[in-house]
Amino acid sequence: MNPTCKKRMGAIRLETMKVVAQEEIAPAIFELVLEGEMVEAMRAGQFLHLRVPDDSHLLRRPISISSIDKAKKQCRLIYRIEGAGTAIFSTLSQGDTLDVMGPQGNGFDLSDLDDQSKVLLVGGGIGVPPLLEVAKELHARGVKLVTVLGFANKDAVILEKELAQYGQVFVTTDDGSYGIKGNVSVVINDLDNQFDAVYSCGAPGMMKYINQRFHDHPRAYLSLESRMACGMGACYACVLKVPDSETVSQRVCEDGPVFRTGTVVL
Ligand SMILES: Cc1cc2nc3c(=O)[nH]c(=O)nc-3n(C[C@H](O)[C@H](O)[C@H](O)COP(=O)(O)OP(=O)(O)OC[C@H]3O[C@@H](n4cnc5c(N)ncnc54)[C@H](O)[C@@H]3O)c2cc1C
Ligand code: FES
Repeated sequence: MNPTCKKRMGAIRLETMKVVAQEEIAPAIFELVLEGEMVEAMRAGQFLHLRVPDDSHLLRRPISISSIDKAKKQCRLIYRIEGAGTAIFSTLSQGDTLDVMGPQGNGFDLSDLDDQSKVLLVGGGIGVPPLLEVAKELHARGVKLVTVLGFANKDAVILEKELAQYGQVFVTTDDGSYGIKGNVSVVINDLDNQFDAVYSCGAPGMMKYINQRFHDHPRAYLSLESRMACGMGACYACVLKVPDSETVSQRVCEDGPVFRTGTVVL
């Protein structure tokens, strides 16, 4: 086992990963490249639970895996500064290390899609990053991709050019300062419904819309956020209710963060 891989507890893996690069790609939005053995186990849609390198912050912070390069043993995370933890992450630079738990969660089911398939990707704001690996992997299989991205304004637009390498991309902004004015529904309501799968990640309002719009679609997926503590299924801080049940719940960290539409209460 690699010496940086400190311990494994069942399926939980902890590793000290190396910071390869960090760059601010939009105001308060950072791209962080990490290197380590853990990359080998990563799948699109999973997340890393990062220890804040400051002992006054006990809880780890969950950040989605944006892209995976197994050959280089590197992965890319894209995050926005929200509070103290992400502000501390933004000070990391090449050569620093980060205590990482992961990869966590179930990830997106990308099975059974090929060059005869058509897929819709829908991302909002800082929910766009996990769709990048989905686009990369499906494009490599010849899947036809249509991507709809929603942002608050022009300054917040990220990853448009990278996603455009893999298929058609529509961008909406709430204030109309870039692309189409409005939210993603302005575009999606005009698309036909002939998608073999739908993958989405974004703010709660967008996830509610996708959940309703594709409620009965057999392969429409939502990547959801919730406040987390343990990040490994033990504390039940992150639970969502299941439709028509008072007793069954789903943990975002362990049973998700990806859920099929119609399977959790939003
Ligand atoms: C599965 C998952 C994937 C995520 N992926 C990304 C990503 O790719 N890029 C990105 O910018 N952000 C992502 N987030 C949100 C990110 O985890 C929070 O913005 C971050 O934890 C805030 O920490 P902070 O210390 O800067 O802010 P603070 O507000 O000071 O955080 C205080 C506490 O609240 C928790 N918290 C705050 N906001 C959230 C939130 N939205 N979700 C979960 N816990 C929260 C923190 O973990 C911390 O314990 C993701 C969240 C989840 C659950
Ligand atoms: S954060 Fe502890 S169970 Fe999900």
